[in-house]
Amino acid sequence: MKIAFASSEIFPYAKTGGLADVAGSLPIELKKLGHDVKVFMPKYNLIDEEKNGLEYQWDIGEMPIRIDGRVHQVHVHKSLLPDSEVEVYFIDCPFYFHRGQIYTENWDEDERFILFQKGVIEVIQRLKYQPDILHCNDWQTALIPLMLRDNYKWDRLFDNTATVFTIHNVAYQGRFSKEAFHKAEIEYKYFLDGGVSEYEGAVNFMKTAIYSADAINTVSENYARELLTPEYGEGMNAFLSLRKNDFFGILNGVDYAIWNPETDKHIPFHYNAEDLTGKKENKKYLLDKLNLPYNPKIPVIGIVSRMVSQKGFDIVADGIEDLVKLEAQWVILGSGEQKYQEMFTYLNKSLPGKFVSYIGYNNDLAHLIEAGTDIFLMPSKFEPCGLNQIYSLKYGTVPVVRKTGGLADTVLDWNEYLTQGLEIGTGYSFWDYNAPALVHSVQRAVNDFQLKEVWQKIQLNGMKQDYSWQKSAVKYIELYEHALKNRNKMPGTKS
Ligand code: ADP
Ligand code: GLC
Repeated sequence: MKIAFASSEIFPYAKTGGLADVAGSLPIELKKLGHDVKVFMPKYNLIDEEKNGLEYQWDIGEMPIRIDGRVHQVHVHKSLLPDSEVEVYFIDCPFYFHRGQIYTENWDEDERFILFQKGVIEVIQRLKYQPDILHCNDWQTALIPLMLRDNYKWDRLFDNTATVFTIHNVAYQGRFSKEAFHKAEIEYKYFLDGGVSEYEGAVNFMKTAIYSADAINTVSENYARELLTPEYGEGMNAFLSLRKNDFFGILNGVDYAIWNPETDKHIPFHYNAEDLTGKKENKKYLLDKLNLPYNPKIPVIGIVSRMVSQKGFDIVADGIEDLVKLEAQWVILGSGEQKYQEMFTYLNKSLPGKFVSYIGYNNDLAHLIEAGTDIFLMPSKFEPCGLNQIYSLKYGTVPVVRKTGGLADTVLDWNEYLTQGLEIGTGYSFWDYNAPALVHSVQRAVNDFQLKEVWQKIQLNGMKQDYSWQKSAVKYIELYEHALKNRNKMPGTKS
């Protein structure tokens, strides 16, 4: 199969969260399965051209792309995903992408990603690449399926192309005022009378893809079920229900070439399930670096997260007085909403020796926290898949999670299985989204940390889990086959 894969962020070039990790690793696995894959992303000015081996594509040259009647000159650079033969095309339009960050709150955020989406299609045209599948990810690429049948309907190159849309997070839908439609130059009829792009009076990029893509999926089976309910669907549940025969859940894989305590380039001491000595050394190293005293009898609880309400920080705030009374130390890394940043900065100042927070993005520290802490906390309100808890399992860092989305699919509660006589638990989880339930689960973990044998059993159970991409990549191929069968069955298709 020929696969074109579009994403607004890709590791190692530009990353705010798990989408980048997925977009940097799934294409490599698809290639390993024998498929031809080309990947597309915007060329933000924060991408280091030299370090990442970007090369200007002279044969493509300048591409004029029109947004809302204004023509922008767009260029293309190319590189290969690290340690692979997968080509990545970077769409360069300084006016939109040289803003020092990946996403903005600027008035023309819709234009930035309309240009990107047109750019993806136009680069494919210039390469004369005839993809079987155009795989779109999240709202920044969600107009592509409709664009192929509207703006670019004339181009026979796409006659055999099916589109797939992956929802990594339904909370970000790309909602804009109706001008977005003029800017995208898609026929206005799609916006009228509850058309494929209209939702609550606004243009909704995600709804457009749900109606127009040949197949849709999200990043865990449990989240796929949740997305069909009003509680989790954020309004998209009704539309996904209409497409439920074409809507699937595929759990994300992880890249153990990057996230593996045996080989991790970002940690000083390597270890594995046979010998955990290196983990202790990493803990000492981490605590020393952060000016926290090392005490092998006390667990360190880690968080690495975008600081947004999705991640459960309001129940952390509600329960914080009880949480910090537990016999544990804390290391928090993340950035996001002001109120959470302020809470953690305050705790950092008021609890020396016990609590450290680092506000910002720091890839080295993220790896070191996975390796050097004992417990990893992820009490999300909702979580499409979640990658950090999967990384934690491999690092022998016992996750405490809320039982939602992909967290419920990947973490088995120790006590729940123990009551059935099974010692297969890999962490701790709680159902109710409130502070007492959270505190109770963290307390269970802190208590069990004292029981050496029990703790090691839970660690090893987790380290044995295998969430590599192999299984999930095969499921993506099945999804692509489903999309190909569906092609041209959708309303508004070419034929
Ligand atoms: P989400 O995509 O919702 O943010 P995931 O758990 O899927 O959640 O992925 C988060 C990814 O982003 C992980 O690779 C994590 O290590 C990384 N990450 C999140 N915040 C930071 C940060 N402040 N510094 C470094 N890496 C971070
Ligand atoms: C989103 C979700 C996260 C998921 C990631 C990659 O950012 O919040 O749960 O793991 O996408 O699919």
